[in-house]
Amino acid sequence: MQICLHGMEPWGPPRHLEVALFCLCWNLADGRSACMEWIYSSAIGQVPAQAEQGHLEVARWTPRLHSMQADLRCFLSSSQPTASRSVNGWNQDQATSRWRVPGAIAIAVVFIVKKKMDNTKLSEGSVDDKYADALVVAMQFFDVQKYIDLEVLFVVVAGKLVDDVISWRGDSGLKDGSVADLDLSKGMYDAGDNLKFGFPMAFTATVLSWAILEYGNHMEHVNHLEYAKGSLRWITDFLINAHPSENVLYIQVGDPEEDHKCWQKPENMTEKRPLKRVNKSLPGSDVAAETAAAMASASLVFKKADSTYSSTLLKHAKQLFTFANKHKGSYTESLPELAEYYNSTGYGDELIWGASWLYHATGDKSYLEYLTGEDAETYADVEGPTWFSWDNKLAGAQVLLSRLSMLGGASGISGLKDYKKGAEDLMCALLPDSPSATSSRTERGLIWISEWDSLQHPVASAFLAALYSDYMRTSNSDKLSCGDESFDHSDLRNFAKSQAKYVLGDNPMEISYLVGYGKKYPKFVHHRGASIPADAKTGCSDGFKWLASKKPNPNVAVGAMVGGPFKNESFIDSRNNSMQTEPTTYNSALLVGLLSSLVTNSDVVKSLRAK
Ligand SMILES: *[C@@H]1O[C@H](CO)[C@@H](O)[C@H](O)[C@H]1NC(C)=O
Ligand SMILES: *[C@@H]1O[C@H](CO)[C@@H](O)[C@H](O)[C@H]1NC(C)=O
Ligand SMILES: *[C@@H]1O[C@H](CO)[C@@H](O)[C@H](O)[C@H]1NC(C)=O
Ligand SMILES: *[C@@H]1O[C@H](CO)[C@@H](O)[C@H](O)[C@H]1NC(C)=O
Ligand SMILES: *[C@@H]1O[C@H](CO)[C@@H](O)[C@H](O)[C@H]1NC(C)=O
Repeated sequence: MQICLHGMEPWGPPRHLEVALFCLCWNLADGRSACMEWIYSSAIGQVPAQAEQGHLEVARWTPRLHSMQADLRCFLSSSQPTASRSVNGWNQDQATSRWRVPGAIAIAVVFIVKKKMDNTKLSEGSVDDKYADALVVAMQFFDVQKYIDLEVLFVVVAGKLVDDVISWRGDSGLKDGSVADLDLSKGMYDAGDNLKFGFPMAFTATVLSWAILEYGNHMEHVNHLEYAKGSLRWITDFLINAHPSENVLYIQVGDPEEDHKCWQKPENMTEKRPLKRVNKSLPGSDVAAETAAAMASASLVFKKADSTYSSTLLKHAKQLFTFANKHKGSYTESLPELAEYYNSTGYGDELIWGASWLYHATGDKSYLEYLTGEDAETYADVEGPTWFSWDNKLAGAQVLLSRLSMLGGASGISGLKDYKKGAEDLMCALLPDSPSATSSRTERGLIWISEWDSLQHPVASAFLAALYSDYMRTSNSDKLSCGDESFDHSDLRNFAKSQAKYVLGDNPMEISYLVGYGKKYPKFVHHRGASIPADAKTGCSDGFKWLASKKPNPNVAVGAMVGGPFKNESFIDSRNNSMQTEPTTYNSALLVGLLSSLVTNSDVVKSLRAK
């Protein structure tokens, strides 16, 4: 094994070259490297005086991901790190480059000395560049959907990784919420339009939290853990403000009817931005419990770094769950005019999901009792596997609660066994060679449930399979029995990979459904901001000419995962084909979860509270 330094130039023109990122990594036998720690320097000129001179050799320079991003690997000649190892020459090319890398290397070397390598971290598998690259791309969609004040993000990201990529974005919706004296300017638009829908937005946050809690270490391999947390916080900041009192939750910003009469950039919206809310007389157990799940899971993510923020989130989560449970009703029944967009087909699954996250976040037995008591019998006792989605979280709760049975010493709690059984049934349905394999697949093997936004189900299913696989692996669980056949964790991981590979281009259309990744990806994404030139003067209705335009989008919605293929695996890249070309933030969260899991192998933590 060799130690290496892995430098990544941030996106962008020379003005950003003062900032560089370096990874302290191990070279693995197969030639790839696994990142142990990311460090960055924003003041590379200031080389710590202690840095010694020694032998360092530039081994490779490979452009990767993006023409503006390069990847530099250097190998120390020794196989073991030592404090006295010193650094001296760079080859000529490097010495004359504007990178000013030697300073950073020196910093990194000092870092090696200071850090003393922790060998326990090295048991992790090798990093798979395909998934690592795709993950970096996928995460950017959250910035595309934010629109406002991108500078704020860089407080946490540093290195200005994205501003040049999303240069076509500007502030928008700054006054959102003002009609109720609230600041709802943050949050994310749900898809290709300019609306903020609380129900899918909260789901996005819950999934992103889950991904961070399980695979934050994998995100760190590509220096995107803080970035993911920043995206999450952008939503949870919104959710906090949307919950001004115990029994009131604002769940929508903007009027879909008015919005859909226009084809305009959010930056140039002039319509009124009315709000919708649920309360005691117009209850919304589904949206309130999902929001509770989002805040409870996020409270775990921020627990260590910002305990005040974490406690605030947890307080809101508990109140929202109580509100959801005490005043039962579906938000789209209370507000039927909302059913046309994100119609909730029931709130039982969200109550289970919310209680599951609250139990993970608090360890409070009352939530466990809820999950194994009478309420659960009503809400969780569903025949057969269900599909995990923004509307139905039961399968997610089954996998999350299996975590307790498999890793958390809760195997004795009989009520939880039913959730594990539910998760096993789902896993058996997903595995293509299982006797109970679902037939809802394309010929090439992609799980295929709905024509609209078809990739949501395979990606969500693959994320759950990857999680379940890791729970099996970490707990050394026996085989998974499906009828007479038995499978192990690697079968589930292979299934998860098969779905991810399909999304990334291994499909009959030979197209990557992740915009910005691969050689060929959709160019006519159904997305107002991406389809309208940054300097266009059009407003509401005259903007439809950009929808009708025969030219590809002028702006690339980097990281967008489009709706996806038909059952016959065909895909029509047309801007007006929203069924297939519209991206959504919740799908991005699911994809980020899936890709994070696949970046490398590692055991998951035994308890999410241990983070
Ligand atoms: C439209 O938005 C852009 C930012 O994307 C801004 O520069 C421009 O001034 C806006 N135009 C109008 C008419 O609001
Ligand atoms: C709930 O909200 C609706 C609509 O905003 C409002 O008319 C109603 O009075 C509210 N109910 C309570 C109990 O505050
Ligand atoms: C919304 O879901 C409910 C419950 O499944 C269903 O009865 C209703 O018809 C749906 N409404 C729309 C507009 O799809
Ligand atoms: C987009 O498709 C809809 C429905 O298929 C159609 O009514 C509309 O005219 C189309 N718009 C454009 C700009 O092609
Ligand atoms: C594939 O399916 C879609 C939707 O059902 C259909 O419109 C299209 O014609 C089919 N394409 C082929 C090549 O069969």
